[in-house]
Amino acid sequence: MKSTTSKSSSRKPAGRASNGTKSSANGSKSSANGSKSSANGSKSKNEPQDDSSKLHKLFEEELKDIYWAEKALTKAIPKMIKNATSEELIEALEDHLEETEEQVKRCEQVFEILGKSPQAKKCEAMAGLIKEAEELMSDSDKGVMRDAAIISAAQKVEHYEIASYGTLRTFAKTLGLDDAADLLEETLNEEKNADETLTGVAESAINVKAANTAEGEEEEEEEQVERGK
Ligand SMILES: [Fe+2]
Ligand SMILES: [Fe+2]
Repeated sequence: MKSTTSKSSSRKPAGRASNGTKSSANGSKSSANGSKSSANGSKSKNEPQDDSSKLHKLFEEELKDIYWAEKALTKAIPKMIKNATSEELIEALEDHLEETEEQVKRCEQVFEILGKSPQAKKCEAMAGLIKEAEELMSDSDKGVMRDAAIISAAQKVEHYEIASYGTLRTFAKTLGLDDAADLLEETLNEEKNADETLTGVAESAINVKAANTAEGEEEEEEEQVERGK
């Protein structure tokens, strides 16, 4: 496996510096909610923090989801590498496996910022994407066709991650968790790069070869039919 000297992006744990900023985010919201609480006397007690704490809870749940997904990917990507034949694709997957291992740690740093111990919750969407990747690999012949299938499956995974990290980063910003937002953005950018790299691999060789292979097979089949006449 390659070294990632150019990618020594692992940052030091962000610590709890952001705890202070959280209270200021809550503070700015209280005046907006104030009018609401007076209109509804029964709810007035905890109302100013309600929206913020609900978003906080949602943020935490989504973090558990992507944490499970990243850990599952550290096991799924090696299977894709084993099945791939294109050097370029193998290299892209190996690089992203290393990044994914760092992303697991980054999720743990975000839990630390929240003052929580890391907890994974099964992400049904990622479980489905990984299952689909396995099916696509077993249904295709090893070589360019399976390489094309791997790229397709891997890009679906990247797009799910891009959506998740984009949301998580925005939630973190809204909650005033700036250190968490920075960590999440770092991962978001890696996911975007991985997606672009896979597009490049597909465009440069694999899809063209796969198309030629499919065409060749079709022609062969046609010839056989002709001969059989
Ligand atoms: Fe990831
Ligand atoms: Fe990824």
